[in-house]
Amino acid sequence: MNVRDSEHMIAELNTKESYELTQNLSEADLIIINTCSVREKPVAKLFSEIGVFNKQKKKGAKIGVAGCTASHLGEEIIKRAPTVDFVLGARNVSKITEVLDKKHAVEVSTGFDESTYAFGEYRSNPFKAMVNISIGCDKSCTFCIVPATRGEEISIPSELIVQEITKAVGTGAKEVMLLGQNVNNYGRRFSSSEESCNFTQLLQKISKIEGLERIRFTSPHPLHMDDAFLEEFASNPKICKQIHVPLQSGSSSILKAMKRGYSKEWFLNRCEKIRSLSPDTAISTDIIVGFPGESDADFEDTMDVLERVRFEQMFSFKYSPRPHTEAARFSNQIDDTIASERLTRLQKKHTEILNEVMDAQMNTIHQVYFDELKSNGRVAGRSSDGKLFFMRGSEEFLGKIVEVRVIQTSRGALEGVPL
Ligand code: 5AD
Ligand code: SF4
Repeated sequence: MNVRDSEHMIAELNTKESYELTQNLSEADLIIINTCSVREKPVAKLFSEIGVFNKQKKKGAKIGVAGCTASHLGEEIIKRAPTVDFVLGARNVSKITEVLDKKHAVEVSTGFDESTYAFGEYRSNPFKAMVNISIGCDKSCTFCIVPATRGEEISIPSELIVQEITKAVGTGAKEVMLLGQNVNNYGRRFSSSEESCNFTQLLQKISKIEGLERIRFTSPHPLHMDDAFLEEFASNPKICKQIHVPLQSGSSSILKAMKRGYSKEWFLNRCEKIRSLSPDTAISTDIIVGFPGESDADFEDTMDVLERVRFEQMFSFKYSPRPHTEAARFSNQIDDTIASERLTRLQKKHTEILNEVMDAQMNTIHQVYFDELKSNGRVAGRSSDGKLFFMRGSEEFLGKIVEVRVIQTSRGALEGVPL
């Protein structure tokens, strides 16, 4: 989401100003730090990073702080770091050129503004397009700061989405990544008039775009994975067979305290349904350990789901209390040492699973879409199920889907040769 927001800011600056991108900090006239606030650590890092930039930046260069930390700290950023010239919230990135010349401007409203998706064109990778389909989140997971920083959920009308993707396909993209905090809740509330369209129908519309070969999306919510959606996911050949199903916890009582809206049984049932309809699908997840009140038995439930589903990718975190969230006020916070031990155990188990999953890939055949040139005479790409592939080769493979055989495996990536 933030990578796409950065692209939006670059697009706006390219259209209305005369900035160019540089890899060299000391050459920059404008430095924008695009921030996350979902956990505490990146917030602390922001202020140390501003200090580093102050030392290294050229005289007179501006520093702006954008994204979710900008939304939730607002003016406090300028109070704590007066060298910051402007603060631009996650929902306001398209206003970058408006705040640029106003000293100490703070633009952090979460109200809806049509311009937030009427973006100029900039894509860091011409072979794949990221396209926002909804903005904000209407859920109220008790651990999560996102609804406070990104505001209410608004879906972008489907014709605009189809238009954006068609444009990207015209300039070389064969793959699209649909973006939203809760993509499969699409259609709940539209930004402007639109006849009804849910996520499954949106996927059907998008898959009609000629020249588009692959559709990915992130993040879906397990609660909204109804049968119709899973059947479309499994049967539509353009939809990549990789799905993120964020578990958060395997314990039904913790899920209740998190206000996730589903139980352990529902989660397992959805994963079984995915695997029965589409056995080769790779399932990834997010897990939080040490949520307030998590007992040993609750944690065992999380371990149990991990062992049953055998997620290919797992993003795991220690619970981090966040401002503007209900759970930060719960009295039964968990001791940090216990949370650390649980995280270590969870990650160790996942590493074992991942080793087995990746070792089993030896000699298998995949359709890989190559989209990146590496420095050492190699190219990188992804299979439909999201595995990272490297292969000897150069430009001639870029933007192409190639049938490859796996000749070497490791936990993070596979080495392939064309068939
Ligand atoms: N503490 C730890 N992890 C969190 N996440 C969101 N909020 C918190 C928090 N307060 C994790 C969730 C979410 C992912 C993006 O970040 O697992 O799915
Ligand atoms: Fe946060 Fe829950 Fe919304 Fe995801 S669905 S962004 S975890 S509030």
